[in-house]
Amino acid sequence: MTSGANAESDAGVSSANSLLSSLQRESLDASVKQVLHRGGWGNPDVLLIEHGAEQLVVKDFAPRALWVKRLLAPFLLRREARAYHRLAGVPAVPRLLGQLDADALILEYRPGTLLSRALAGKLRPEFLEELEAAIEEMHRRGVVHLDLRHRSNILAGEDGRPVLIDFASALRFDPTKAWGRAAVAAIGWVDRRALAKWRRKLTPVVAGD
Ligand SMILES: Nc1ncnc2c1ncn2[C@@H]1O[C@H](COP(=O)(O)OP(=O)(O)O)[C@@H](O)[C@H]1O
Ligand SMILES: [Mg+2]
Repeated sequence: MTSGANAESDAGVSSANSLLSSLQRESLDASVKQVLHRGGWGNPDVLLIEHGAEQLVVKDFAPRALWVKRLLAPFLLRREARAYHRLAGVPAVPRLLGQLDADALILEYRPGTLLSRALAGKLRPEFLEELEAAIEEMHRRGVVHLDLRHRSNILAGEDGRPVLIDFASALRFDPTKAWGRAAVAAIGWVDRRALAKWRRKLTPVVAGD
């Protein structure tokens, strides 16, 4: 018997699948609503796509040089996709919806505001605790992000909760093995230090303190 929750997620997956199968490389340009980030020589363009009633994000290496597409992009896309697979179901992490083709990943769009000092005192009081919990859950699953200091990689979502993006430089370890957990504990220091930075930047300075 299929449980209600499974039926719901199965329906979600099949509607996502049929949606994605109708998204084609040929029609991509016409579907671009916004260029979220124009990549440099070794980075993808990050595009907000309007597809039917849905908004999606496509990380696309297609405009890059051939050698980048042949040598670098497959490595980065595979690494990012594997991190997203490992983090499936973590609410702070957008869903990986699929691969458009060899050059591009398709992600759930999570609108929000990039973190900056200007948000100090404006976020929900729980934001930093939720960010810490999201990082801990990521580490429990054996993923170390490595680039959370960068303001472009954490958003305050529309619901006010943290969203972690950009796992192109993330490392994965086996959390079922003692050495994997030890590696996460050691290298995860980079993410914990980034969290400390955001704690400092986002905590409002109270006059007279
Ligand atoms: N899933 C997403 N939902 C909403 N915005 C996103 C999403 N993915 C990326 N972005 C936006 O695009 C920008 C660049 O994406 P990112 O994955 O960090 O690319 P890069 O690997 O080039 O740094 C982010 O800073 C963010 O503003
Ligand atoms: Mg980034």
